[in-house]
Amino acid sequence: MKIAGKLAAKTLEMIEDHVKAGVSTGALDDICHDFIVNEIDCIPACLDYKGYPKTICTSINQVICHGIPDEKQILKDGDILNIDITVIKDGFHGDTSKMFFVGNKKPHAERLVKITQECLYKSIELVKPGVRLGDLGNIIQKHAELNHYSVVRDYCGHGLGLNFHEEPQILHYGQPNTGMSLKEGMCFTIEPMINIGTHKTKLSKKDGWTVETVDGRLSAQWEHTILVTSDGAEVLTKREEESF
Ligand code: MF3
Ligand code: CO
Ligand code: CO
Repeated sequence: MKIAGKLAAKTLEMIEDHVKAGVSTGALDDICHDFIVNEIDCIPACLDYKGYPKTICTSINQVICHGIPDEKQILKDGDILNIDITVIKDGFHGDTSKMFFVGNKKPHAERLVKITQECLYKSIELVKPGVRLGDLGNIIQKHAELNHYSVVRDYCGHGLGLNFHEEPQILHYGQPNTGMSLKEGMCFTIEPMINIGTHKTKLSKKDGWTVETVDGRLSAQWEHTILVTSDGAEVLTKREEESF
């Protein structure tokens, strides 16, 4: 899991330089596929997963998650973009995503992206044996709602290991002191999706994957794969730019 996590993080770091106006999300997918297969000798977990057609997910602006890369979808100045990458190494899954700005940062988008990252970081700081899943959801929900944002309910984090999505579900909202207690050795993702407007989602009827906000307002997401250690958390998908 440590190796898989590191390699997923490395792929996200690699793609950063390629994210700019004028580039298509399909091109980003091609670059990631080549890197994952040929440079780090992994299997792209998303490709063919339940029929998903690409290697990465690229979710722009009002897209909450599972946006499908496309050669005809061109990034433009002012966009915000989540790239979600999952790789399999020796059977084990590493799953991580981050937000990118295309060109100029719009202040309202920058604030959403920052608060959403803080939601992830605050929940990671809580992780240790004995802490309950409701505690993690609660700290995310509180930070989002205090900032007048909403937490997506229809999608959540998940246990992972030899399978991409395992129990337990990691909800990004909830009540303190409820739910399963964390134990040393557990691996799961935390991946809050936070919206400026309503938390309600709609699934594209056209492609069956793309999930968007019902009101068309912006959504952001950050994701890490976490290992519960004896006294805290190890962020298996930590990037160079991060210090935990
Ligand atoms: N990486 C996503 C997650 O965080 C799942 C994407 S599944 C796909 O759980 F099929 F859409 F790729
Ligand atoms: Co995930
Ligand atoms: Co993911």
